[in-house]
Amino acid sequence: MSSRPVVAVVPAAGSGERLGAGRPKALVPVAGEAMVARAVDGLLASGSVDAVVVVAPAANLAEMRAVLPAGVDVVPGGADRVASVALGLDAVGDAGVVLVHDAARCLCPAAVTAAVVDAVRAGHGAVIPALPVADTVRRVDTAGRVVGPVDRTGLLAVQTPQGFAPDVLRRAHEAAATSPTASRATDDAGLVEAVGGEVVTVPGDPRAFKITTPLDLAMAEALVGAEVRR
Ligand code: C5P
Repeated sequence: MSSRPVVAVVPAAGSGERLGAGRPKALVPVAGEAMVARAVDGLLASGSVDAVVVVAPAANLAEMRAVLPAGVDVVPGGADRVASVALGLDAVGDAGVVLVHDAARCLCPAAVTAAVVDAVRAGHGAVIPALPVADTVRRVDTAGRVVGPVDRTGLLAVQTPQGFAPDVLRRAHEAAATSPTASRATDDAGLVEAVGGEVVTVPGDPRAFKITTPLDLAMAEALVGAEVRR
């Protein structure tokens, strides 16, 4: 087993327009603690992560540093998620495993992080936590008309943290930098797939859901409240 560190890149440079909180989503409090702080605390408390690089909106670096533990590196982000992760990756030094974890999935349980790290340590170049899709799914045209059924068998909803051998993730981002479509990618495993890399899954967890809307935020606060009382 490699003793090189596990370093997590946390993209937190989004504006969070869909949440409508009037400030970057990662700084929005969930039951009194900024989303990004909860996400970073969760990674560090998992016992599987040695260091964290947070990618923040360029205009909010000081605010971001103020809510994070000392020792967490904070770097400015880019125009889209792919660019932000690439900038975070530039700040990752020597690492045995690189994780990429959305600040917006701030209640991810430690066991998910541990399972992802273990799978990379076991030799997989790219690992994603994923859950079966519960809803019935349809493909539609631009007018919203159903154009066909989608077989739910074999469909998984993908979460973070996603884990990578550092050279695999770096190669994928290098290719993405010159790809006309890569900026639309919503995760990093997709970039690895685009260069022909193999991606494997480990079980995700419903608590690793992404906070996007005000309803998601209310659900996250309810979850924190329920766990505090337990
Ligand atoms: O907007 P969405 O929630 O899908 O973004 C996923 C993650 O990517 C969030 O944690 C967000 O802060 C981050 N992001 C980023 N830089 C951008 C856009 C999004 O770090 N330019």
